[in-house]
Amino acid sequence: MSRFPPFAALGAVLLCAVALSIQARAETGAEAWLRYSALPPQLAKRYAQFPTSAVVLGDSLVLKTAQKELARGASQILGRPFSADNSSLSHSAVILGTLDQLHDLAPNLNPPRGMSNDGYWLKSATVHGFHCIIVAGTTDRGVLYGVFALLSKIARAESIASIDEIQQPYAPIRWVNQWDNLDGRIERGYGGPSLFFADGKVRDDLTRAGQYARLLASIGINGCTVNNVNADPRILDDNFIAQVSRIADAFRPWGVQLSLSVDLSSPKAIGGLDTFDPLDSKVADWWRKKVDEIYRQIPDFGGFVVKADSEGRLGPSTYGRTPADAANVIARALKPHGGVVFYRAFVYNHHLDWRNLKNDRAKAAYDNFHPLDGDFDDNVIIQIKNGPIDFQVREPASPLFAGLRHTNEAIELQITQEYTGQQRQLCFLVPMWKEVLDFDMHVDNPSARNQPTPVKDLVAGRTFHRPTGGFVGVADLGMDANWLGSPLAMANLYGFGRLAWNPNLSAETIIDEWTRLTFSADPVVLHTISKLQLSSWHVYESYTGPLGAGTLTNITGNHYDPAPESSEENGWGQWHRADHTSIGMDRTIATGTGFVGQYPPAIQQLYESLATCPDNLLLFFHHVPYTYVLHSGKTVIQHIYDSHYDGAERARDFISQWKTLQGHIDEERYRDILARFEYQAGEAVVWRDTICNWIYRLSGIPDEKHRVGSSAPSP
Ligand code: GCU
Repeated sequence: MSRFPPFAALGAVLLCAVALSIQARAETGAEAWLRYSALPPQLAKRYAQFPTSAVVLGDSLVLKTAQKELARGASQILGRPFSADNSSLSHSAVILGTLDQLHDLAPNLNPPRGMSNDGYWLKSATVHGFHCIIVAGTTDRGVLYGVFALLSKIARAESIASIDEIQQPYAPIRWVNQWDNLDGRIERGYGGPSLFFADGKVRDDLTRAGQYARLLASIGINGCTVNNVNADPRILDDNFIAQVSRIADAFRPWGVQLSLSVDLSSPKAIGGLDTFDPLDSKVADWWRKKVDEIYRQIPDFGGFVVKADSEGRLGPSTYGRTPADAANVIARALKPHGGVVFYRAFVYNHHLDWRNLKNDRAKAAYDNFHPLDGDFDDNVIIQIKNGPIDFQVREPASPLFAGLRHTNEAIELQITQEYTGQQRQLCFLVPMWKEVLDFDMHVDNPSARNQPTPVKDLVAGRTFHRPTGGFVGVADLGMDANWLGSPLAMANLYGFGRLAWNPNLSAETIIDEWTRLTFSADPVVLHTISKLQLSSWHVYESYTGPLGAGTLTNITGNHYDPAPESSEENGWGQWHRADHTSIGMDRTIATGTGFVGQYPPAIQQLYESLATCPDNLLLFFHHVPYTYVLHSGKTVIQHIYDSHYDGAERARDFISQWKTLQGHIDEERYRDILARFEYQAGEAVVWRDTICNWIYRLSGIPDEKHRVGSSAPSP
C-alpha cells in the first residue's frame, strides 16, 4: 500500500510528469551537439538585447548557410522569431560577412588584421547607430564557423553582451576520413551503413550526408574523404566521379571539401595502361587528365588520400620507386587546381618474421619516410598515425613526427573506436590524443633553440614553417540515427574537431561544452557525464592493455574480444612477446630492435632506460621479468592482476554513476546508455578473467590477493 495519501500521490505523479516533460524530450542522438534546445526563460532573458534578425553582406552559398543556421539556432534556443533578412542595416542586427565586406560597411570598426584562413571575429558593436553583433570571417567559411560558435555560446548561456573574440584555427588541415566501401559497408564502422554509398553506387538520397557536413562544419572541420583508404579503383571511373560530385554538392553549403582515397594502381586497374609506374610519363598523363576531369565536375575538390605498399595494397615498390615518386606524380596533377595529396605513413611489411627479435613493425614508418624528407612536393602531406603501431589503447607518439623537417605532415587519429571498444564500451579519446599532441619531441630546431616542439606544433607546420599540415580523424559515422552507434561516442567526434581547431583546449573544457550541448547544464548531468567520460580511457586501458603492451585483443579477427595469443607467432608485428618468465618488446638501442634510436636524443634517454621509462609504456619499450618492480612499487604481474580487477570494478561502477541521471535526462538516452554500461561491465569481467588466467597459466605466479585461478566465483 502507498505511504502517500491518494491526492498527494496523484499530485506527485503530475508534478513528475510536468517536470519530465519540461526537461526531457524524445531524443535519438541525431541532433548530436546541435540540439538548440530552448533556454529556460530566466536564462533567455539575458539575451533580451540580442538582435532579432541578420544582415548578410554577401550572397555566397556558405554565407547563406550561415544566415539560415543562425535563424534556426537563435529562434530555437531563445524561443522567439529570428528573421534572416537581407535588407540593409536599418535596425539592430547580427551582421554576417567577411572582414573585407565588413570594412566596406563600417570602415571605422578596426577589424583585427593578419588572422589566418577560416578565422573569425565575434564583436558586439554599434554600427550606423544600431546595436549589432558582428560575425566576420577571413573567409565565408570563417563566418559560418563564427555563427556556430555564437550559437554554442548562447546555447550554453554564456554572456555575449560585450563580446570581442578572435578565433583562428591552429592548422589549415582539419579533415575526417571515412572508410566507406562502395557496397555500403564501412571498414571499422560501428554506426550502421555508409552515408554515401549503397550497392556499388552513390546513394540517391544524400540528406544524411548533408547533415553530416553540418555537424563537421559546426566544429571547424573543412574536409572529408568519403571512401575507404583500401580504395576500390572504380571510384575514379568517369561515371563514378559524376556520382561523387553529388556528395560534394551536399557538402558544399557547409564549406566541407570532398576528397577521395585512391588506389595507386588505378592507371592500370581502370585506366587501360600497362603500368602504374609513377615515373612513366603515360602514368603522369593519366593522373593529369583524371584530375582535370574531377575538377571539371567538382571545382572545390580537396585532393587524394593514398594508402600504398601496406597491408596488401599495391604501391611504388612494384617498380622500385619511392613513396615520394608516387606522391609527387599525383601531387603535380593536383597542383594547378590547389589540391593536396595525403600520403599515409602507414607502410609496413605484415609478413615480418616473428622469430627474429630484431624485427619491429614500429620502425617501419620512420624507416620508410625519414630518408625521403625533403623529396616531397609542397602539396603533399604525410599522414602519420598517432603511434607507431596502429591505434592501440596506449602507444608513444610516432617518432616520425620529429623525423620530417622539410615535409608537410598531419596526425591521423582514430575517432571510430576500432581497438578501444567499438562504441560498445565507453572510451573518450580526447585525453589520449592530448597526451600525444602535447608530447614534446625535443627536436633540435636551429631557428628556435630551447623552444618546446610538441607534436601539435610539428603537425601544424609551426615548428619548421611548413606551408600546410594539421589533423585528420578517421570518423566512420554511419546511417544509425545517432551516427556512431552510441550517443556518448559522439564526444570523440566533437573532441576531435575542437582539438583540430585548438589543441590547447583541455579535455575538461571540451567535455563540459559537449555535455551542455548534448544533454543539459543540469549540474548533476555535467558532473556525472564529465566524470564518466574523463575516466573512461584509463578504465578501458586497465582491463585491456596493461603497461603499454598494446591492446591484448584478437588482432587477426574482430579487434574487440580478448585474445592475447593472437598477437604472437604471426607476421603482423603486434607482438608483446609474453613467455613463461617475462613480457614486453625490447625496443631499446642497447639490446633490442633499436626503435628507440628513431627519437631525438632526449626522448631516447627517456625510453631507453628502465629508470626513466614511464610505467604505462614499460612493455612497449622493454622486455622484463614478471617479477620486475615498477616505479609504483608493484611487480609487473601483480600490476596486471590488480589493474584488471580494478578496471572491471570501475566499469561496474559506471552503472551506478549513470543511474544518478535518471529523471535528469530524457528516458530514451538514459535507457540506451544504461544498457550499454551494463553490457560493458560484463565485458570487462570477460577481459579481466581471460587476461588474468592467461598470464597466470603462462607465468605460474600467483595473485597475492588470491583472486586469479581461485575456484571461488569472482565478484
Ligand atoms: C588498421 C585497420 C584496417 C585499416 C588500417 C589502415 O589496420 O584494422 O582496417 O585498413 O588500419 O589504417 O589502413
